[in-house]
Amino acid sequence: MFATVVHNLTSPENTGMILRTHVAFGGEHFVMVGPEPWRFKKRTQAFSRRLEKICNIIYLPDDDSLFNWCGCEGFTPVAIEIAEDPVLLPSFRFPERPALIVGHEGNGLSDEFLQRCPRVVTIPQFGPVGCLNVAVSCSIAIYELNRSRPLQRAIEGHAFTVAESERPDRAEQTG
Ligand SMILES: C[S@@+](CC[C@H](N)C(=O)[O-])C[C@H]1O[C@@H](n2cnc3c(N)ncnc32)[C@H](O)[C@@H]1O
Repeated sequence: MFATVVHNLTSPENTGMILRTHVAFGGEHFVMVGPEPWRFKKRTQAFSRRLEKICNIIYLPDDDSLFNWCGCEGFTPVAIEIAEDPVLLPSFRFPERPALIVGHEGNGLSDEFLQRCPRVVTIPQFGPVGCLNVAVSCSIAIYELNRSRPLQRAIEGHAFTVAESERPDRAEQTG
């Protein structure tokens, strides 16, 4: 099992996309670090598909509370970030209970923050662009973490099957 941590993200589109990937890959906790709890409005929901309604979301105000939470819940913080002298994703061995952390769209994760993370992993890039989009980075890392898991969900046509009881609208009805 894994947690996904979005660290001070500001873009509704990125937040919605990451949450959707997190749910699609069966993540356990979706952790949002920032001064205020995120308000899921239309722009986020256009990308999250309202999956926040069936997602276990944890709001944490700052870095200290994030690292405390990881310790209490038995998660190992894994920063997804471009770092000098990098550990590259294809050769990275994920710990058993990773909390995958991605950073702010403009500033990324600070050096101070990275020093507190026991693991930092970089996605290799080959073309002339400084960094990837944060939602793309997070999705690549989540995919890589899960890629050897056996497939258990059935497919119908061009979609994975979702039971009525698993749907976000159903969660809304039942509270
Ligand atoms: C757009 S980047 C942040 C800006 C970037 N640090 C800069 O100075 O231009 C946002 C986030 O995407 C993730 N990211 C982007 N490219 C990455 C890569 N190649 N490897 C790992 N993480 C990456 C990191 O989590 C980063 O904090």
